[in-house]
Amino acid sequence: MRSHSILLLLTAVLVTSLGCFGSCTTLITDKNVHSPQKTLDQRQYVPFQALQHAKIEGLDESTTSLQDSELAIPVGPNSRRKNRRDITTDLDYRCGEKYGRCPSGTCCSSAGYCGTTKAHCRSPDCRIDFGNCDAHKTPKGPPTREILRPHEGTVPYGPQQIRSCAVPGTVALTFDDGPTRYTGDLLDLLDKYEAPATFFITGINNGKGAIDDPSLPWASLIERMLLSGHQVASHTWSHEDLSKVSPSQRIDQMLKNEVALRNIMGSFPTYMRPPYSSCEPGSGCREDLGRMGYHITLYDVDTDDYKNDSPNLIQRSKDIFDQALSSANPISHSWLIIAHDAHEQTVHNLTEHMLQTMARLGYRPVTVGECLRDPRENWYRKDTSWPGHKKKGPKKEFPPQVSIDGTCGKNFTCLGSSFGLCCGSLNVCGNSSNHCGSGCQKNSGYCAVGAPPNGDAWDPNLLSKSGRSEADSDFRAAASTAAVTSLLLALAVALLM
Ligand SMILES: *[C@@H]1O[C@H](CO)[C@@H](O)[C@H](O)[C@H]1NC(C)=O
Ligand SMILES: *[C@@H]1O[C@H](CO)[C@@H](O)[C@H](O)[C@H]1NC(C)=O
Ligand SMILES: *[C@@H]1O[C@H](CO)[C@@H](O)[C@H](O)[C@H]1NC(C)=O
Ligand SMILES: [Zn+2]
Repeated sequence: MRSHSILLLLTAVLVTSLGCFGSCTTLITDKNVHSPQKTLDQRQYVPFQALQHAKIEGLDESTTSLQDSELAIPVGPNSRRKNRRDITTDLDYRCGEKYGRCPSGTCCSSAGYCGTTKAHCRSPDCRIDFGNCDAHKTPKGPPTREILRPHEGTVPYGPQQIRSCAVPGTVALTFDDGPTRYTGDLLDLLDKYEAPATFFITGINNGKGAIDDPSLPWASLIERMLLSGHQVASHTWSHEDLSKVSPSQRIDQMLKNEVALRNIMGSFPTYMRPPYSSCEPGSGCREDLGRMGYHITLYDVDTDDYKNDSPNLIQRSKDIFDQALSSANPISHSWLIIAHDAHEQTVHNLTEHMLQTMARLGYRPVTVGECLRDPRENWYRKDTSWPGHKKKGPKKEFPPQVSIDGTCGKNFTCLGSSFGLCCGSLNVCGNSSNHCGSGCQKNSGYCAVGAPPNGDAWDPNLLSKSGRSEADSDFRAAASTAAVTSLLLALAVALLM
């Protein structure tokens, strides 16, 4: 009898100390969705589900490989030297379907450890059902939930999915997962070729901070996209798999990105692409997106750029692109291409090659909306209830006169001039990183390029380059000590009774 009650008590204490507050059996999320193995499995059954479609749906594993290969969990010296006896502040708890939720306010990493570092909390790795995550952050400003979402135009909305363009001779280049520190360079390149493209924007992925955070460069990059004639579309708030989250989490993923984009543009997109191209029939995803007034936008050429992000592999992506485009006549054909501005080689190598191939074969670069013959006013929904939409726009901060000779500064803005958008440190207007990057004068034009000091998780100077498994083993050692500590404590309490 006594031993039984001790056991019960022990369990209770353990469970409480591990922060499992009644949701220990919450549904399991996609811990493995970012591992290449799982992705392979998905590839095996997707064609089966897509049999009725002429074109087989690929998978966008982009962020996946990036997160697995390029990023490492930083193991700060503090995480090791923490006083592990202090049960109330020790964060080295385990979390997940087996262990339950992390202590309040802490994040559950993809490997199942609680903590508060950027590596624990960054989405989509962070496990939204077992703790706090970047995914749970909410952009400021009035919600967009109540805005009416009529299905304007002739382009199908969800539950239908769009896989190809409709205007012969066009190519719609699309870039997912940004903005990132490479996006400014990509905009320079697209300017140079006068090539419109479409950006599927993720609001808070990869630890980059929220796109509408005024201390980060993302919002001005998005403004620049619009100014340059590109199309801005949604790729969800934090890049969760929309087939695997709950319906309310799915809607939250769309609504939060709407608010953040509205804070930047005064309106939000009607075009979206589901992360991993995952919006499975039967999950309710396609219907939800249709009700929310979204065009579910896939592609018919996958450049596989996320797999080939190195100078000696990127040729494979170029070959995929060239082969697709030369397989048909531009008189009768068009293409919808997926790539990712999260990858260095995509921005600095593949895209220029694609633009040249298009020019050589006689294809015209267009946005997704254009290639579907959808008028621009249908690409976005205005939020007229939002007071910011009137005072919005950086113009008020600029000096009144537009530069007439290419120089800029206190009295002259580059914005609206023919010399480029940004006022560089030498008081000269231009569009290049020299002008828009470090030293750029915010009050005399746009400043868009350049990695932020803190908001970009890919900064190699901020993160150790060691592999994730290595980093995790440090967490693991610490966590098992924590578990033993709580066990001993529980035992002591039980014996005292
Ligand atoms: C600079 O970029 C803007 C916006 O993309 C474009 O309209 C303009 O032609 C560019 N100017 C130069 C000089 O490259
Ligand atoms: C660009 O790609 C080619 C292969 O297509 C490669 O040989 C070259 O080194 C790459 N250039 C850069 C700057 O990475
Ligand atoms: C800017 O304009 C003001 C008012 O017209 C003038 O007094 C000032 O000298 C100008 N500054 C520069 C650097 O041209
Ligand atoms: Zn993506």
